[in-house]
Amino acid sequence: MGETEDDLLAERRVRWAENDVLHVDDAAFHVRFGGEIPPRELLSLPHVTKPRRMVEAYLDLLARLRPRPRRIVELGIYEGGSTALLAHLLRPDRIVAVDLAADRADALDRFSADHGYDDVVRAHYGVDQADRPALERILDEDLGDAAPDLIIDDASHLLAETRASFEVLFPRLAPGGHYIIEDWAWGLYLFARPPTSPSPAVVLFEMLLALPYQHTHVAEMTVTMDLAIIRKADEPCSPDPIRMDDAYAPYARRMVEAAEAAAAP
Ligand SMILES: C[S@@+](CC[C@H](N)C(=O)[O-])C[C@H]1O[C@@H](n2cnc3c(N)ncnc32)[C@H](O)[C@@H]1O
Repeated sequence: MGETEDDLLAERRVRWAENDVLHVDDAAFHVRFGGEIPPRELLSLPHVTKPRRMVEAYLDLLARLRPRPRRIVELGIYEGGSTALLAHLLRPDRIVAVDLAADRADALDRFSADHGYDDVVRAHYGVDQADRPALERILDEDLGDAAPDLIIDDASHLLAETRASFEVLFPRLAPGGHYIIEDWAWGLYLFARPPTSPSPAVVLFEMLLALPYQHTHVAEMTVTMDLAIIRKADEPCSPDPIRMDDAYAPYARRMVEAAEAAAAP
């Protein structure tokens, strides 16, 4: 891949305006998380449902990734702002996006049509991230033999669902690719309502226990307050699904069970 292509992100005109509006070249995105009512004049912008600091962390990370991600899978579309932003920032060959909600994100459809991403963005609605056969079929259909090089899980933030997606999708990630679990600490926040499921943090604990065995092909984990960024090893591996509880020593199972019980509501 040529240097110019790799430098594409650096060439974008990216700038923050007031009210947490992010401009990327000719498009603007409203970045907001939480319940505040947006000013009327911003309602027509694609809405990225994240705190600004998280979008800043993404901008930082995406600018550093070499080569630039070309095939992206995103779990959790909501209003479609993050999918639109990834398309406009990275100009990938394909973004496969999945959401449990049955209704299409109109704002994403509009953005894709306006900016020529109709053939880039493939959005699937009414799909549970825990539905393993559905995820496999969608990737087969939309990516064929090509491996995604960036996968972002911003969907349920529930343990079983997060683990199911990881077990199916991580093996299919390209060598050296990145898998990001957003809000990995869901269910552990002191300020939040009591959780309804054990925290997805347990999956990170499982990855940690699996690290010495290389079974999962996790090369490195970088964990910040918002994001768990998991880099896959450079060696090729089978794309078949893994099971996390096969990935670490049997006696470590007791540690995971204890963590799971501790992270349960
Ligand atoms: C936080 S929002 C996504 C926000 C979006 N990525 C953004 O940054 O603008 C989470 C989305 O995940 C979806 N979701 C919740 N549980 C899910 C599941 N089990 N499978 C797939 N999607 C799910 C919800 O319907 C919701 O649209």
